[in-house]
Amino acid sequence: GKVSTHMIDHLPEGTMVEVARPEGKFTCKISDEVTKSYYLFGAGSGITPLMSILKTVLEEEPKSTIFLLYGNRNEESIIFKNELEALKKRYSGQLIVEHTLSQPQKEKGGWFKKDKTNWQGKIGRIDEKAVRLFLTDNPSRSKHEEYFICGPGAMIQTVEKTLQALEVGKKHIHLEYFSTPDSAKAEPVAALAAGTNAKAKIHLDGTEIDLEIPKGTNVLDALMDEGYDPPFSCKSGACSTCIGKVLKGKVEMESCLALDDDEVEDGFILTCQAHPTTAEVEITFEV
Ligand code: FES
Repeated sequence: GKVSTHMIDHLPEGTMVEVARPEGKFTCKISDEVTKSYYLFGAGSGITPLMSILKTVLEEEPKSTIFLLYGNRNEESIIFKNELEALKKRYSGQLIVEHTLSQPQKEKGGWFKKDKTNWQGKIGRIDEKAVRLFLTDNPSRSKHEEYFICGPGAMIQTVEKTLQALEVGKKHIHLEYFSTPDSAKAEPVAALAAGTNAKAKIHLDGTEIDLEIPKGTNVLDALMDEGYDPPFSCKSGACSTCIGKVLKGKVEMESCLALDDDEVEDGFILTCQAHPTTAEVEITFEV
């Protein structure tokens, strides 16, 4: 929200803005051979990447089904409302969309009459109950399910926890955070405290860089402070654009929302969150 607000408030019309290409891991392998059930959970502008996934699957994986649960405040705030309706018609039976509104619009009822809403769909936020009900109402049509969640941090965590309680395997749950959730903000202290001054060898864009990383500075910032141009986007441990791999030594991460446990086990790190904890480290961005 910071960038879009800044652009609207400060950039005059006609300003040229340089953008990075899309990156990240909130994607799925597509094949017209497979039959999968995709469950998409979105709230507000969290629909954006889900819309992209949804359209690609509908086009290129015709045997798969998509179930979308989309939460908004009211009818007015449903992004892609008409486009979703059109897709539902076009891919009838293959795309199931359920909207849920936390505050559907109401018409004034007048004297002695209650305000009433014309909204026919579900009412409420995407909470544990809504997720469970949605999954019960929409049973899987295949043996292979994938779950994609995008929206505010608290909603993502609620859906993720509910899926885990239902024994959905971690590798089938895909998350896209817009910002660092509150629970992750409590952890930095440990990583910073464990950190140490370190001599680092970094492999970036085909070059080898020797660098001192002072205690308290993460790997990405240390590189940028020296004028290098490593890849990054969110700088809050949520996107994985800054991904690297530890070849030697050890690091501790402040927060890590964008890598799964297996990847961390294999030495992958988010360099924007990584603080060396050994006097020497070697890290590559070429992963
Ligand atoms: Fe997004 Fe590091 S820049 S996780």
